[in-house]
Amino acid sequence: MKILGVSGHYHDSAAALLVDGAPVASVQEERLSRRKNDASFPLKAIDWCLESAGLEPEDLDAVVFYERPMLKFERILVTALRAFPRGRKAFAHAMENSLSEKLWVRGLITAHLGVSPNKVLFTEHHQSHAAAAFLTAPTREAAILTADGVGEWATLTVGTGSRGPGQPTRIMLERELRFPHSLGMLYSTFTAYLGFAVNEGEYKVMGLAAYGRPTYADAVRRIVRRTSDGAFALDLAYFEFHTTVARSYSQKFVEVFGPPVDPYQSIDLTTADGRRFADIAASVQLVLEEIMVDLARQLRRTTGLPDLCLGGGVALNGVANARILAESGFERLFVPPAPGDAGCALGAALYADRIHFGNPDRELPDHPFWGPELEEEVLARLALEDGLATRTLSDERLIEEVARELAAGRVVGWMDGRTELGPRALGHRSILAAPHEAAMRERLNRDIKYREEFRPFAPVVPVEAAEQFFELPPGGARLARHMSGVFKVRPAWRAALAAVTHVDGTARLQTLDREMAPRLYDLLLAYGRLSGAPVLLNTSFNLAGEPIVNRVAEGYSTFRRSQIDLLVAGAALLAKPSLARAQMEETAA
Ligand SMILES: [Fe+2]
Repeated sequence: MKILGVSGHYHDSAAALLVDGAPVASVQEERLSRRKNDASFPLKAIDWCLESAGLEPEDLDAVVFYERPMLKFERILVTALRAFPRGRKAFAHAMENSLSEKLWVRGLITAHLGVSPNKVLFTEHHQSHAAAAFLTAPTREAAILTADGVGEWATLTVGTGSRGPGQPTRIMLERELRFPHSLGMLYSTFTAYLGFAVNEGEYKVMGLAAYGRPTYADAVRRIVRRTSDGAFALDLAYFEFHTTVARSYSQKFVEVFGPPVDPYQSIDLTTADGRRFADIAASVQLVLEEIMVDLARQLRRTTGLPDLCLGGGVALNGVANARILAESGFERLFVPPAPGDAGCALGAALYADRIHFGNPDRELPDHPFWGPELEEEVLARLALEDGLATRTLSDERLIEEVARELAAGRVVGWMDGRTELGPRALGHRSILAAPHEAAMRERLNRDIKYREEFRPFAPVVPVEAAEQFFELPPGGARLARHMSGVFKVRPAWRAALAAVTHVDGTARLQTLDREMAPRLYDLLLAYGRLSGAPVLLNTSFNLAGEPIVNRVAEGYSTFRRSQIDLLVAGAALLAKPSLARAQMEETAA
């Protein structure tokens, strides 16, 4: 059976193709359109998925959209009417957006793909999140918790899943919290208040939180009240996201927390205002953690299950995830590489396959590399047009040479195999560098990533060596497989790993299994033999404001426009002219 999953129209569109129950292709629209967080209907991603599998639209048994547009429309309508006449503007905006095309998804899919309308299915938004988290995890029975901004009405669900040979797959979402009561919206409101882009700057709030003290935690607890049933409710007097598109927080919010960040100015941590913003970030982060830990603890008690699968955009909060693992009583915590809406394309397809069609369960490959394959031969051609020469080396020689360059302080653009699904570079589209000196972090921020100082860089380490450098609780190495947890760097290593240790002594590490990315794994070992620590700084291969590179052409263009010294595309190696000259002089001497 061939099933296409589609997510889009809100944030981070994607497509995923399932053949006989296993993913064969999945990619975010932004990686192909080159527009960051592209939310448009993912025509390019759909095209690529079908083409890469050699399929025509008529070969598909079903196309599954990741949410129910009518339910979502109902939510927008009801919310606007409740706030009337204040919500008139929001309503007009929503009508414009929804009625233009979003509401008519079935017609859109039929028109674009030429599949018959009865092949178009819909899952609920949080069913897609739950399926993406549970059906891709190596567990057969688990509690499930999903949390995001909002889908149709649900903003948070809890339940259980079970699967296995000879039994029907079940995903039972037993309780849900509904809009406007939303942890994602709470966090996004603070994201906007702190001057960052909503749906994209949330991780900056988490990074900033480490610089502050949670002195506003009580104030945050007052606006997100705990309810007697163990859930929470937002005090809507502090918010405006449910009544207007212009602003997400109210005047009352400003009275409590003070004037917001001017989005045209960066936060200066040496000023009183800058410290206030860091304290506010620390406070909302702490309250989010408390609520998530509490909900997970209740879920552990009611289900009695040892495994928890976490989905939805809130699952990108690695600090909260690490606390859930340490404090909720669950033994293992699984977060997929794309817990947000992009991963819903895959989730929706899996949900339809296992539950709507009742197809048998299968174990899925445990990696995020479902995107376009690298065409490494393209690099030589592109470089030649600019008068540069690439070299093609055996794996062994390439790895030795790149390890030496990294140890000499060079920055490497690393492309290998198929593109990752999800927001993180997990070893196939990465910028790599030595993790030791704080100066390297500054250099990357200044010359390559052009971004704020308070965003930490992440380390990658072979899973077997992780304990030596990082304090991992039981289950921590698994959580770090997709960079989903933030853990303490061992005090003895903090100075030697200064470029990847955040101000609070933590790191959002990736623990690498050789099977997942063998060439990067071997590079880590080679680097470890030279430097004494098989740890590298690993950041996504992109410049600020751009999506992660996908094809060789984008890697090459990023290499040319930045201070990256060395570009690796599979077996092909290209050095900046200045570096190549220095290398030749070294060899001559
Ligand atoms: Fe979502």
